[in-house]
Amino acid sequence: MNRFSAAILCLLTLAIGSAVWSQDAASKTAVVPGEAANEGSNDPTADYPQGELGEMVRLGETLVKETSSHPMTQPLVGNPLNCTSCHLDAGRHPKAASFVGVAAAYPAYSPRESAVITLEERIAHCFLRSQNGSRPAPGGKVSVAIAAYITWVSRRTPIDMNPIAPLGPNRLKLLDADAIKPDIARGETLYGDRCADCHLADGSGSDEGPPLWGERSFNDGAGLSKVFKMASWLKVAMPPDDADLTEQEAFDIAAFVNSHPRPEFRPERNDPQ
Ligand code: HEC
Ligand code: HEC
Repeated sequence: MNRFSAAILCLLTLAIGSAVWSQDAASKTAVVPGEAANEGSNDPTADYPQGELGEMVRLGETLVKETSSHPMTQPLVGNPLNCTSCHLDAGRHPKAASFVGVAAAYPAYSPRESAVITLEERIAHCFLRSQNGSRPAPGGKVSVAIAAYITWVSRRTPIDMNPIAPLGPNRLKLLDADAIKPDIARGETLYGDRCADCHLADGSGSDEGPPLWGERSFNDGAGLSKVFKMASWLKVAMPPDDADLTEQEAFDIAAFVNSHPRPEFRPERNDPQ
């Protein structure tokens, strides 16, 4: 080894040494992106990201659970539903329109809009239709916080954009509408037996369950206003904790529920505000 390469080696050792040291120091003080805040704690929310991102995710979770009452979202919705009235368990239910993995599917192609849409745009559609409300400002705090929450529950899902529909990997499993002929009269009887205790005989809702039709329900542009989508959701979601309807029963009840009037989807509310 000549003096020149010895000097290089010496410098290199120093450089690597100090890099290791500074990395070590950094990991003790700095927030590492994506790193859990309190790993090992019993608090189910302990792995929110640290710092402002964590605050945003937390706000998003609050907004999806308290959509109809929170001061930031209440003015944007036209019914007493929350996102989690349908996206059960704060969107973490594995089957009932799960939010888990959704963020990995966007941007996605939407046949309804004939356009490639972002996750924020997809969120706006549920405000306009399922919440019978109006669009949160794109890039505004409501939209970003909810997107942050959905992205958080989607982390570690491999990115896999969806060229066919704006739906994630755990999308609602749709039942085959061609295979089953719904019977509204049978649905009415089943509704009285299995649903009316909470949602009331006239579908107007109670403290035990939100409205299912009428002025305070989702509008006729919402996914659940289609009998086969409502049946598919009921099959995995209702009654709560005991979703045991047969496919035929789910179609009968869905047809009965959707035989009633509900608000009309008004696309003019689409205008960003
Ligand atoms: C009345 C029930 C209902 C309410 C309330 C509702 N949604 Fe949805 N949402 C659905 C259904 C059903 C689907 C699945 C639609 C489909 O399969 O076409 C869906 C789909 C979505 C998707 C796309 C899921 C995916 O797999 O890509 C997002 C994102 C979403 N909703 C967000 C929200 C947010 C945010 C709110 C509250 C502001 C909300 N939804 C309120 C019923 C609802
Ligand atoms: C024990 C009370 C209870 C029973 C019984 C029940 N539900 Fe629900 N339902 C709820 C609650 C509570 C929610 C909102 C979910 C949440 O916030 O976690 C809900 C949500 C819904 C929703 C989506 C939100 C909306 O209001 O549009 C539909 C649709 C629905 N139920 C239909 C039914 C049908 C049909 C039956 C009968 C097969 C039924 N439910 C039985 C309590 C009940």
